[in-house]
Amino acid sequence: MTAKRLENIKEYYFSQKLREIEQLNKEGKNIINLGIGSPDLPPHPDVVKVLYEEAQKANVHGYQSYKGSPILRKAIADWYLKWYNVIIDFNTEVLPLMGSKEGIMHICMTYLNEDDEVLVPNPGYPTYASNVSLTGAKMVAYNLTETNNWYPDFEAIEKLDLSKVKLMFVNYPQMPTGQAASEDLFQQIVKFGQKHNILIIHDNPYSFILNDKPLSIMSVNGAKEVVIELNSLSKSHNMAGWRIGMLIAKEERINEILKFKSNMDSGMFLPLQLAAAKALSLGADWHEEVNKVYKARREKVYELLDILQCTYSKEQTGMFMWAKIPAKYKNGYELADDILYNAHVFITPGSIFGSEGDNYIRISLCGSIEKFAEAINRINNL
Ligand SMILES: Cc1ncc(COP(=O)(O)O)c(C=O)c1O
Repeated sequence: MTAKRLENIKEYYFSQKLREIEQLNKEGKNIINLGIGSPDLPPHPDVVKVLYEEAQKANVHGYQSYKGSPILRKAIADWYLKWYNVIIDFNTEVLPLMGSKEGIMHICMTYLNEDDEVLVPNPGYPTYASNVSLTGAKMVAYNLTETNNWYPDFEAIEKLDLSKVKLMFVNYPQMPTGQAASEDLFQQIVKFGQKHNILIIHDNPYSFILNDKPLSIMSVNGAKEVVIELNSLSKSHNMAGWRIGMLIAKEERINEILKFKSNMDSGMFLPLQLAAAKALSLGADWHEEVNKVYKARREKVYELLDILQCTYSKEQTGMFMWAKIPAKYKNGYELADDILYNAHVFITPGSIFGSEGDNYIRISLCGSIEKFAEAINRINNL
């Protein structure tokens, strides 16, 4: 019945697992969910106020421009200049998105044919691989390992046949490993794209979380020629449910992607766009406040990981902790199931991000201190 393109797609792990958790909760198990990275803190009150005030107006409820409101595009360009020191033309080089996730699909639909190949990080955000697969193109995994600081091993990648590779997904700060970006890394990535004529897709939703210096790959000289960057307000501004992201690229790329996207949706609700512009104008104090909360939670997660005898780096960025499991477990699934069924705490097994994550788990920082304390208590009592 369903289209052939769905044959290689599995149900998203979380969608399946959340059903199981719901069932366990119905049985009275009261599962503590430390799996999902959906910010539990609210956006800044001024952002909500703009949405509320704008939504009361009579003339804001119609279809909007496919390219997004110029107010939001200008706010995005100002934000890039202020935080990343990157100059972009708000008229031609910015495309607001309904979350960066949809941008991944738009890019795949815009550029990929069935014979094309795409470099995808292992471990990495599962949506890259599934969206590549939905277009009928082939994913070529490139491994990230702890010994290589979770950076791409370009020497190993260059040993592969790259003749059919059209796109490469990269994501720093990296999810799930928490590895931070560096200027040097971004330069290497741009150089690699230039050398092999591969369009680089850099996914950058975590640069403001537990990260002192937000970086954009667009700050590298010549990046616009070979890179499209995705960014998002989901994590940086606690607005995951609002669905606001952005795509930064040179004009030609934006127009190519618009050709597809304008056939998919009809713009975003204007009050949302205006509220997003407000969010992007917030100062360093906003990010400091949010990060203070994550830092305190991270201390509790260290405690929890120590009880589980996991090992981990304290240099991680983003809203998760990535940790290596002790040898007594065969893989992360085994640990996650043990903790879910016996302590009623849900932790994400690293394997869902790719085979290089087999011996790891990921814990989300999106929970209150009390929730972490209760999880520690339950695991301690095992
Ligand atoms: C690496 C990565 N990219 C993109 C996204 C999607 O974010 P958005 O809410 O902007 O669609 C996520 C969300 O979890 C993510 O982890």
